[in-house]
Amino acid sequence: MEITLESPLDMHLHLRDGDMLKLVAPLSADFAGAVIMPNLVPPVTEPGAMVAYSERIREAMGADCEFDRYMTLFFTALTEQQLVLAQETPGFFGLKLYPAGITTNSEGGVSNLAEAESTLKLMEEMGIPLLVHGESHGFVMDREAEFLSVYRNLARKFPKLRLCMEHITTAAALELLDEFENLCATVTLQHLIITLDDVAGGALKPHLFCKPIAKRPGDRDALLQAAINGHPRLMFGSDSAPHPRCKKEACGCAAGVFTAPLALPKLAEIFAQHGALDKLQGFVSGNACRIHGLKPHAKRVTLHDVPMSVPSLYADYGQQVVPMYAGEEISWSVKA
Ligand code: DOR
Ligand code: ZN
Repeated sequence: MEITLESPLDMHLHLRDGDMLKLVAPLSADFAGAVIMPNLVPPVTEPGAMVAYSERIREAMGADCEFDRYMTLFFTALTEQQLVLAQETPGFFGLKLYPAGITTNSEGGVSNLAEAESTLKLMEEMGIPLLVHGESHGFVMDREAEFLSVYRNLARKFPKLRLCMEHITTAAALELLDEFENLCATVTLQHLIITLDDVAGGALKPHLFCKPIAKRPGDRDALLQAAINGHPRLMFGSDSAPHPRCKKEACGCAAGVFTAPLALPKLAEIFAQHGALDKLQGFVSGNACRIHGLKPHAKRVTLHDVPMSVPSLYADYGQQVVPMYAGEEISWSVKA
């Protein structure tokens, strides 16, 4: 069996910077492009810094690699003039809003949403999408559920704002998605597969620890069903989030699962297992193109049911990163 995907997109990707960027960027090269997260240190808040970062990504990808970089700015309250400047900057995709301190490098995020509203109104008028890390500061398993009322209020108050719930992890988030036409959502690979039990039910698995944390079996099952049934407003966003091995295998483990190099083969494996290969194109590209009006450059990737051995470690430029399924086999792979 095989499937050829047209211009697959990763709608939520962390590429980092410096040596880590050099190591991980080429590992996303089977994708035609990705939405690039801005939570660097310091975060990418200005169009100038965004363009410079985009250029570093282009270099790290390799000169002959065509890869569309949909760049985001870390949300701060912006004036109309600043938003116009962002919108006129080549490669700009949208703003990523983090509640202050909610995850890696988000200390400069929003602590009072009311102060963001004038910017959101302008974004609604200008057609700029808002991507949101939707978690409260409550009990870790309830953080996404507690944030759903914020999404609901935003969806009501700004009915024309394209509001993307990033990396959803609950059945309740899917229900909300169905309530409002102006909501869309991304889901990661790991949240289609694992539950909290896989992270912490036995020996602790630091390489499966991410934010939002994986939830209950019913949540995982609902997300998987939505993906393989071709939910029209659910898009693949890996949230592949590499951290140096020493920061993951540590007391105070950094949040993030590194899935970029195996995401497409594993998705093909799962969709094939469920007899849903015909829904994969929409999930990894079609929905995103329709929702956001994207026209990625043409890139075809053929996946087939020939096993792939996932390396136990990716190491180069003095960096070491452990992928999901390190040292294991996936029953599909990219056809050379
Ligand atoms: O697990 C996560 N890692 N969740 C996020 O929201 C951020 C990401 C990162 O940048 O490491
Ligand atoms: Zn992320």
